[in-house]
Amino acid sequence: MMQVSFRNISQSYGRQVLFQQFDLVIPSGSFFTLLGPSGCGKTTLLRMLGGFVKPDSGQILFGDDDVTQVPVHRRGVGMVFQDYALFPDRSVLANVCYGLAARQVPAAEAEARAMAMLKRVGLETFAGRMPAALSGGQRQRVAMARALVIQPRLLLLDEPLSALDVKLRVELRSMIRDLQTEAGITTVFVTHDQEEALAMSDLIAVMDRGRVVQAGPPREIYAKPRSRFVADFVGSANVVPVDSELPSSADGARRLGTPGGVLLTRSDLPLAAGSSLAIRSEEISLVAAGPQQEGLLSGVIEHVEFRGSITGYAVRTTVGLIRVDVWTSQQKQLRSRGEPVTLQLPPAAHIVEPS
Ligand SMILES: Nc1ncnc2c1ncn2[C@@H]1O[C@H](COP(=O)(O)OP(=O)(O)O)[C@@H](O)[C@H]1O
Ligand SMILES: [Mg+2]
Repeated sequence: MMQVSFRNISQSYGRQVLFQQFDLVIPSGSFFTLLGPSGCGKTTLLRMLGGFVKPDSGQILFGDDDVTQVPVHRRGVGMVFQDYALFPDRSVLANVCYGLAARQVPAAEAEARAMAMLKRVGLETFAGRMPAALSGGQRQRVAMARALVIQPRLLLLDEPLSALDVKLRVELRSMIRDLQTEAGITTVFVTHDQEEALAMSDLIAVMDRGRVVQAGPPREIYAKPRSRFVADFVGSANVVPVDSELPSSADGARRLGTPGGVLLTRSDLPLAAGSSLAIRSEEISLVAAGPQQEGLLSGVIEHVEFRGSITGYAVRTTVGLIRVDVWTSQQKQLRSRGEPVTLQLPPAAHIVEPS
């Protein structure tokens, strides 16, 4: 197991400055996810770790070793990409053996180790097949086996699930996480899918335009997004602008004035110009219309989306469109488009910074 660090990295493409004095530490043995929109620099960081991209300046450290100048094949890194990148003209077994052969592992031992890995990913009966005769999910299992069989010091996964359909994605993400846990190997996973990041990671670094805007465990990133960008990117929170701070309530909760009335928060963050409250759709409930009261917001249902276990409502209010998610099985009544409703907002909304 090994800690991995980016130290003071700068990188530009033409006139585009992608990274400026970028620092990040990936703790030893962790499943660490780089999460951010397309173009924010995730793949470039991963390629720097693999040795495919040399930064303009700064260092890549494996443990205490500076590997910035170490070539790809000497880094001891396993990689899996979105597009599988299997050798099309070699069998599944030969694909998995490849890295071992390159490391001069004797053929019989290489084959035994490759077969054991194939068995682990449930593909031992496919050893003789060619990649073209496999499904997307099977190819990605082969790619995982090929990356892990060399017992790498570091595993790099670049959107390995993005090309698969939803059901397979969900299946494979638990397999990948189990394999990583068994091997105890430091892993950097790249995705633009927030659900995947939340489901798989020990730690998430949320990125925006070449910067890490927040890093922490999934639950913390979800419950305490620091900025509006994080709140919106991870779980698409409802964002309500704050106008003013009002005298606290009797039980000590902060009361904040918003265009939709008074809302409560337990956050002790200071308010800045442009601060908002971020409210998760599942924290809001639909209640019977009643007298005007703090924490209630009235509106009209603009859209109903039945998603199976969850029913989603989009409600037009004085603070814009508010999304509310309700467990379908716990709904007391079906509501439809055009219906006036009252929203009960949570007693402790979370304050976020403007960007
Ligand atoms: N080799 C390259 N030449 C020119 N621009 C590049 C190169 N690699 C990456 N970029 C640019 O750097 C930015 C980040 O790319 P990338 O790391 O692939 O982002 P992500 O993986 O988050 O989508 C993009 O604007 C991309 O166009
Ligand atoms: Mg990418």
